[in-house]
This record gives sequence, structure tokens and C-alpha cells, in this order.
Amino acid sequence: MARLIFLGPPGSGKGTQAGTLAKFWQVPHISTGDILRSAVREQTSLGTKAQSYMDRGELVPDQLVLDLVQERLNQPDTDRGWILDGFPRNVVQAEALDQMLSAINQSCEMAINLDVPDEVIVGRMLARGRKDDNEETIRRRLEVYRIETAPLISFYQKRQQLASIDGNQSMEQVTTAIQKAIES
Ligand code: AP5
Repeated sequence: MARLIFLGPPGSGKGTQAGTLAKFWQVPHISTGDILRSAVREQTSLGTKAQSYMDRGELVPDQLVLDLVQERLNQPDTDRGWILDGFPRNVVQAEALDQMLSAINQSCEMAINLDVPDEVIVGRMLARGRKDDNEETIRRRLEVYRIETAPLISFYQKRQQLASIDGNQSMEQVTTAIQKAIES
């Protein structure tokens, strides 16, 4: 059963790989970024609260994200597994995830960290051109990643739950490397 977390800087390929593997294993791909973007598009109360943070490349306040993840993980389709993409994003969220999972008798199997050099990341995001893919916001997202999210690498490493994958290869090669890490 797949219960995986995708870590890695913005533009490292988390969404691409989480989507491919979720289809392969037929489990839900839970992307907090996608859920938040859809809330912004639909102008829900969550979207209104989240938009300015996202536009600036800052993290949306923890409680907003924790509420949405808790609601999503409690849906019945997560019984067979799940892939979390872009969550947790800091130690507070990782500890809250532990509590959420223990309340539903689940646990995370592995955290996959995608390693990609900054210059490759910036090139990928400028080529994609999402609303938050402009140079200033990309720079801020990378800073926020280093300060808030990178510490999760050692958080999961200490628990022997981390697999670091070279994300600077073709999409297919990255998928194969992740599958091998999970099987081994
Ligand atoms: P989020 O949507 O999570 O964005 P991100 O982490 O910045 O990541 P991206 O979606 O930019 O990149 P990715 O790693 O998924 O790469 P992708 O596969 O798309 O978050 C956006 C915002 O929402 C945050 O800034 C924050 O405000 C808020 N937010 C979200 N979660 C939050 C949380 N938990 N707490 C608080 N706030 C939160 O690939 C990027 C591009 O590269 C694509 O064009 C793709 O086609 C291409 N590509 C992928 N793999 C390869 C490859 N191997 N070779 C060549 N190109 C590739």
C-alpha cells in the first residue's frame, strides 16, 4: 500500500511524479497546492484567505492547510493509500500529520525528497509560467523552502523514512528511481 510524502523544492517535479505514481497505484494524489489553487479559482473562503500568501510565494498559514488535509485524509478513498504532494511543508505540519494519521490508524511509509539544482528549477518554472512562476516569487519560494521545508529532510532521515532521489533526470528515469527506492 502506498502512503508517501513528496518533499523537494518548488519545481523539483513533486506534482509530476506524485501524479504518475498515484495513477499507477490507483491512490489519491493529494496536492495542497492544487487544492489551494482551485479554492482561489472558485473564490471560496479558503481561497480568499490563501491567495495573497500564494502570490507572494509565502506559506499559507498552517491551520488553513491542516484543516484541508485532515478533511481530505478522512475521505474513504484514502483507505487504500495516498500520496501527499507539497505537504507537510514545515515541522509543525509534519508533527500535526503524525497526529492526524495516528488518529485514523495510519502511518506514512516513506518521504521522497527530489534533489534538483536551483538553476534547473528556475528554468523549469519560468518555462511553465504559472501565476506564481515569476522571478521574484520563485526566489521567495526557494528561500521559504530552505528555511521552512528543507529541515524536514533530516526530520524523516532520523526516522529512517527518507529516500533522496536525483530529480535532474528525465521524468521517466525519476519515476523508475522512486519505484526502486520504494521496493528496496
Ligand atoms: P505548490 O503547488 O506545492 O508549489 P511548489 O512546491 O512551489 O511546487 P511546484 O508545483 O512549483 O513544483 P513541483 O515540485 O510540483 O514540480 P512540477 O511537477 O509541477 O505550492 C504553491 C503555493 O501554495 C506555495 O507557495 C504556498 O503558498 C501554498 N502551499 C501549498 N502547500 C502548502 C502547505 N503545505 N503549507 C502552506 N502553504 C502551502 O514540475 C515543475 C515543472 O517542471 C513542470 O512544468 C514539469 O512539467 C517540469 N518537470 C517536472 N519534472 C521534470 C523533469 N524530470 N525534467 C524536466 N522537466 C520536468
